[in-house]
Amino acid sequence: MRNILAKTTSTAFALALSLQSTGVLAELDKPIMDPAVPFDQMDTNLYNHLKSTPSTYEAWEYGYLPARCHDVAESWENKSPYDMEVYNVLYEDCDTPWVICRHKDSPMSIEKMIDNFGRLPVRLRNLVRVQLAFPARSEGQLLAYAFSDLGDIVFTGDMYPYIRFWFHEIGHIRDANVNASAGDYSASDAWLTEYDKDEYICDAYAKTNNAENFAQEVVVAGYDKIVPGGIAGLVPNYEDIYNQFVNVQEVMGDELCPGGTCDRLFEDDHIVCMGPDAGCVTERDHIAARDVRLASRGEEQPHICDFGL
Ligand SMILES: *[C@@H]1O[C@H](CO)[C@@H](O)[C@H](O)[C@H]1NC(C)=O
Repeated sequence: MRNILAKTTSTAFALALSLQSTGVLAELDKPIMDPAVPFDQMDTNLYNHLKSTPSTYEAWEYGYLPARCHDVAESWENKSPYDMEVYNVLYEDCDTPWVICRHKDSPMSIEKMIDNFGRLPVRLRNLVRVQLAFPARSEGQLLAYAFSDLGDIVFTGDMYPYIRFWFHEIGHIRDANVNASAGDYSASDAWLTEYDKDEYICDAYAKTNNAENFAQEVVVAGYDKIVPGGIAGLVPNYEDIYNQFVNVQEVMGDELCPGGTCDRLFEDDHIVCMGPDAGCVTERDHIAARDVRLASRGEEQPHICDFGL
């Protein structure tokens, strides 16, 4: 497999900067460990040690979808909400379904999304509300983003072979919800103290800022728990980032371990009509409701991660 050319687009960085003080999201100045954590070698081992969870799924009736799916289709991905397929997915280890919204032209099938998500430990799935899949924004680009305050994850392009990106995005959700009222954990003294104990960071992507470094460390921490031999079996100089991934393991506890059952962090999103052409709302009411919704989310910006390979 090719190396990841990890980078954050300047647009994404600009969006991120509007959210928080520049100090919080500045590029990190610690050196990258050598060798860096070979993230591109993780997926095969993760798939081998994360069994898929048996599931059933059912499509929603045409015309309705979670508000997030409507608004991301229209405002973030420039797609028609009428082209979204919505599914309830019921895994055998949880009696509440998860909702997945898939654009009809997404290269990722609903079955593959269900398979990937179902391989994650159920206590990690607990942090997720809605998942969305769209076509790649441009040929070969893989971009994912998380509305971390409410547990919604958007995938553009075919993310199926890269289960590590699921860990990464859920890492952003955990970061925002260790103590939601205190802001991102990755900006807290608790995290920065552990970060400062290490001489290095895990890879070039982690260098982007504290939030991306934390999300990468969630991938490391999960890999370490799940794959026999742990992170030491993947990278000999793992002690260079020891305090960071061990702190993630302490903060996340058994969320990184298979087993257990569900206890969801978020309530379901509310449901809206696709639009007047779906026959469930008038044009006027649809636009009025959407504008109220968007205004109430004025400052909301996701963490955008460009995983261009
Ligand atoms: C969460 O953060 C708020 C605001 O900083 C603080 O007052 C509160 O004590 C924190 N809660 C916990 C459980 O640490």
